[in-house]
Amino acid sequence: MPQGRFITFEGGEGCGKTTQLKYLGDYLQAQGINVLLTKEPGGTEVGIELRKILCSGDVDKLDPIAEALLYYADRRLHMQQKILPALAQGTWVLSDRFADSTLAYQYYGYNKKISKEILKQLYTIVVGDFCPDLTIILDINPIVGLSRSIQRNKIMAAKEVRFENKELNFHRNLRSGFLEIAQTSSRYVVLDAQKSIEELHQDIIKTVKERLINK
Ligand code: TMP
Repeated sequence: MPQGRFITFEGGEGCGKTTQLKYLGDYLQAQGINVLLTKEPGGTEVGIELRKILCSGDVDKLDPIAEALLYYADRRLHMQQKILPALAQGTWVLSDRFADSTLAYQYYGYNKKISKEILKQLYTIVVGDFCPDLTIILDINPIVGLSRSIQRNKIMAAKEVRFENKELNFHRNLRSGFLEIAQTSSRYVVLDAQKSIEELHQDIIKTVKERLINK
């Protein structure tokens, strides 16, 4: 049985990654590939509880280290219970966020208030030498992204607005953090999330074909 591929979607608030992940999942399935769509935080039963703690409530209730530890607890369960077993069966796993989000949000977002070394150590303890085959970063101006996500959350009366409520500078740091992260390995592709849904979907298909299908 061939090993599946692991694709992660990353980006700031309102970048449209959840929609794009679903569209890519449909495309891959139509090509006869088995696909698992999942997300962080909240890809497992305990993860759903962690997600409630992390994504709702007072904006300042956790500091970046406490947050990083909880995100890595969620990631550990997610890897053990879902990602690794699916890959071992040849399923392609598409995850709405993974470890790059912790670096972008808890390190860059908070303007480097914690040491990058701590995050590297957590990565090694929890993830080891495993990493995504491809990471698609959907880049968006935070003013545009936040207004999209505030609008959506209002319509859905969503409670998960803790990060959305962080100051604009947090979101600006986050965006430049993702762009900096993208320079560190060839597994990253940065795409313009301000394109139309269909145009962006086509860019994603082209990337996946070039990187993983027609190789
Ligand atoms: P979502 O917007 O993709 O549903 O993700 C939930 C929130 O959690 C989002 O505001 C980003 C944040 N987050 C982190 O701060 N660090 C992480 O490691 C992950 C996975 C998500």
